[in-house]
This record gives sequence, structure tokens and C-alpha cells, in this order.
Amino acid sequence: MMNKLKNRIALIVGAGSGIGRAIAELYQTEGATVALADLNEESCTATIRGESSTHRVDVTSSESVEALVQAVIARYGRIDILVNSAGILNECSILEMSPKTFDDMLAVNLRGIFLTCRYVAPHMVEQKAGRIINIASQLALKGGVGMAHYTAAKAGVLGLTKSLALELAPHNVLSNVIAPGPIMTAMLGGVSEDWVREKEAALPLGRFGTVDEVAPTALLLASSPDGDLYLGQTLGPNSGDVM
Ligand SMILES: NC(=O)c1ccc[n+]([C@@H]2O[C@H](COP(=O)([O-])OP(=O)(O)OC[C@H]3O[C@@H](n4cnc5c(N)ncnc54)[C@H](O)[C@@H]3O)[C@@H](O)[C@H]2O)c1
Repeated sequence: MMNKLKNRIALIVGAGSGIGRAIAELYQTEGATVALADLNEESCTATIRGESSTHRVDVTSSESVEALVQAVIARYGRIDILVNSAGILNECSILEMSPKTFDDMLAVNLRGIFLTCRYVAPHMVEQKAGRIINIASQLALKGGVGMAHYTAAKAGVLGLTKSLALELAPHNVLSNVIAPGPIMTAMLGGVSEDWVREKEAALPLGRFGTVDEVAPTALLLASSPDGDLYLGQTLGPNSGDVM
């Protein structure tokens, strides 16, 4: 048991799987109490320890996000750290992409992050302290074939977070982005081994990352004094894909 986040309350959205789950595990190891939220609440249960709790949320619904934030505040009285890791991924050529496919992607991967920040930020401002950590992707910086909707959403997260960083800095609320490279999670479950081998060969480090290699960046951004000077930054645990 370490203590970098002792007595801190963290809300992690998308905590049921992959990167969000690894961050929830590390935060609890470091002493935080975590509200683990996901569309699939059941998937969060194995990860909780101590006073931590699970919550169902659909980030495409403002009512659902508002209810989540109210429930977490009612239970713990404050939110020190917000991590946004909920996301979806699918591939579609721009030549075939329907407006609905585009809208559905943005509803989760961009508007969902706006909503959680919108409802959590007033509490952080009132507390005069807070950390917001949004998970984007290195594809926001380089684009991707069949990924116009995904990369547009992820690039939107960068702009959103920089504006939050500027607007909330006077209230001692620090907002940053983590933009991982390819990480082996359920999100990549549908791709073939050939695809993985080809992509890995194109990476300077020659391999995909693991969730445990991303979570420490979220710990850095959440801790003090370690993360005290990071504001509006995009940190890239990405195997050297984007420099
Ligand atoms: N895995 C990668 O290679 C990679 C790379 C760069 C960025 N990312 C980003 O990291 C984040 C986490 O991805 P992951 O790889 O851990 O994926 P994952 O599929 O393992 O986890 C995503 C979680 O989001 C939840 N979720 C999906 N829609 C939701 C909704 N409407 N409301 C609430 N929760 C919802 C899912 O239930 C799931 O538990 C995503 O934003 C993803 O885009 C992943």
C-alpha cells in the first residue's frame, strides 16, 4: 500500500475495462477511494476495495451523468480527481460514413467527456482544488484511415481540455490529456493478429503498450507535488508513434 492519493476521492468513468480499470486499481493501491462508473456497472465490481463504489452511467445521457455526479457527491461529499476513460472504437471509411455513425462516436468520445466535466467542475471550483484527466488518443495528432469520426472526437478532447485548463486554473483545478498509442485492451479485441503484427512493426518501440504502462501517467497527473505543474498538456505513452 502506497500513499500518493491518500484521502482522495476519484471518479473514474469507463472504469469497467482496460485503461480505466487499471487506473482504478492503481489509484486504490495509492490510497484513493474510487467511484468506478461504467455503462456496464457489473464489470466494475471485481476492482473495488475499501470504501470504493460502483455506479452505472451512460455518458451519452446528460441526465445519467448528472445523476452519477450527484450520487458520488452525496456519498463522499467531494470529487478530487475526475478521469474520463469511457470510449468506443469502430472503423468506417469517410466515403461510407453516415451522419449517425459520426454522431454516435462523438456522443461517447467527446460529448460524454464534456458532460462529466460540466457536472464535476462546479464541485472542484467550490473545493478550490481538482484534477481532470481526459483520455484521448495519439490518433488525435496523426489521423487514421477509417477513423475520421474517432480522430475528430479525440482531437476535440484536446481542444476541450486546453480550454478547461485555462478557465479552471484560477480555481486550482488542473486539466490534462493522456493520448495513448495502441494498448492491448478489449477495444482492440476485434482486430486480427496480422493487423497487430503490422502495426507493431511500424512502432519505434516495436510493440503495443499495456494498461499498466498507461496508468502511472494518470497517477502522475493526479498526485501532488508530482503533477502540480501540468496544465493543458497532452502526455503520450505511445511506444514512440507520435513524438
Ligand atoms: N486501447 C487502445 O489502444 C487505446 C489507444 C488510445 C486511446 N484509447 C482510449 O482509452 C480509453 C479507454 O479505452 P480502453 O482501451 O480501455 O477500452 P475498453 O473497451 O477496454 O474500455 C472502455 C470502457 O468504456 C465503457 N463505455 C463505453 N461506452 C460507454 C458509455 N456510453 N457510457 C459509459 N461507459 C461507456 C465500456 O463499457 C468500457 O468499460 C478510450 O477513450 C479509448 O478511446 C485506447
